[in-house]
Amino acid sequence: MHAEASQLHKLSDVEGQSYITVEQIQSRTFLQELFTLADEMERVKKDPVAHSLRSIALLFYQASTRTHGSFRAASQFLGARAIADYHGMNGTSVEKSESFEDTLKSVVAISDPQIVVLRHPDNDSSERAAQVLDRPVVNAGSGKAEHPTQALLDAYTIQKYLGQLENLHVVAVGDMLNGRTIKSLAKLLTLGKGNTVTFVAPENLSMPEDIVRQLDKKGVKIQQTTRLEDVLSTGDVFYWTRVQKEWFDSASEYEAVKDRFILTPDITAQMRQDAIIMHPLPRVNEIEREVDKDVRAVYFHQMENGLLVRMALLKTIAKPLMSDFR
Ligand code: NCD
Repeated sequence: MHAEASQLHKLSDVEGQSYITVEQIQSRTFLQELFTLADEMERVKKDPVAHSLRSIALLFYQASTRTHGSFRAASQFLGARAIADYHGMNGTSVEKSESFEDTLKSVVAISDPQIVVLRHPDNDSSERAAQVLDRPVVNAGSGKAEHPTQALLDAYTIQKYLGQLENLHVVAVGDMLNGRTIKSLAKLLTLGKGNTVTFVAPENLSMPEDIVRQLDKKGVKIQQTTRLEDVLSTGDVFYWTRVQKEWFDSASEYEAVKDRFILTPDITAQMRQDAIIMHPLPRVNEIEREVDKDVRAVYFHQMENGLLVRMALLKTIAKPLMSDFR
């Protein structure tokens, strides 16, 4: 059995290890070292003889454009020759009711990946995968709970634009209940001193109490409101999110809240000039297209940063696994 969730104090601690939750990250040093390596990945991307990864499996039980595409591209830029690529599980034996564990073991047996990247609707899916597999698992989105590589690219983006990960006011808007990206980012922000996170959500989509308590205990100042107008002039980062339609019980419940917080030029006009506007994407209608032209809107750059951060992470995890080839 693989040691599934080692504590990460410095970047080398993730060598040969799984990355399941941002809660593994214990210090800013880990992030700083990862971001420095991500900066270097700009150059590696252009190097056709990079051999930092041999094989990988991508298992995506849920829809994905960015996460799947960037893990795949990252693997190729690092030189992977075998990519077992399951982008959606239609057409696999999951349709014949094969268990999650059996599917995982099969994919490993038939393709011998050095790393397994997993996206799955269950909150504990990556932990379970790491328990049954004898190789590192990277969580590419687990249920409503975590999206720990998205949090890394979000933090990398904030660091690039604002030059710091402390003393920030991050205003997160939208579906705090079902969204997983903001939960992971908020937990990561506990590593910086003096951060405040304001959750702006419709009442029935507010952040679960246990997560609020956990963040509070770790020293992030948490505010919750439905009044966006109260925080527009003080936010450094506005992190807009999609209302997560797939988790609603009925279309009418979704319809009732989906248009509650739509970002328009009238609203951005009330934000500070040095603020940034982020979104993990995909967007539905919660940010008007007009806003894309605003220099403060960085959501398309977040994706470029995602490729670099995922390259840096995969390269580091694979490091001890490549020793046979040197
Ligand atoms: C997010 C996800 O899958 O949680 N997408 C992504 O990976 N960038 C956000 C979302 O689906 O709203």
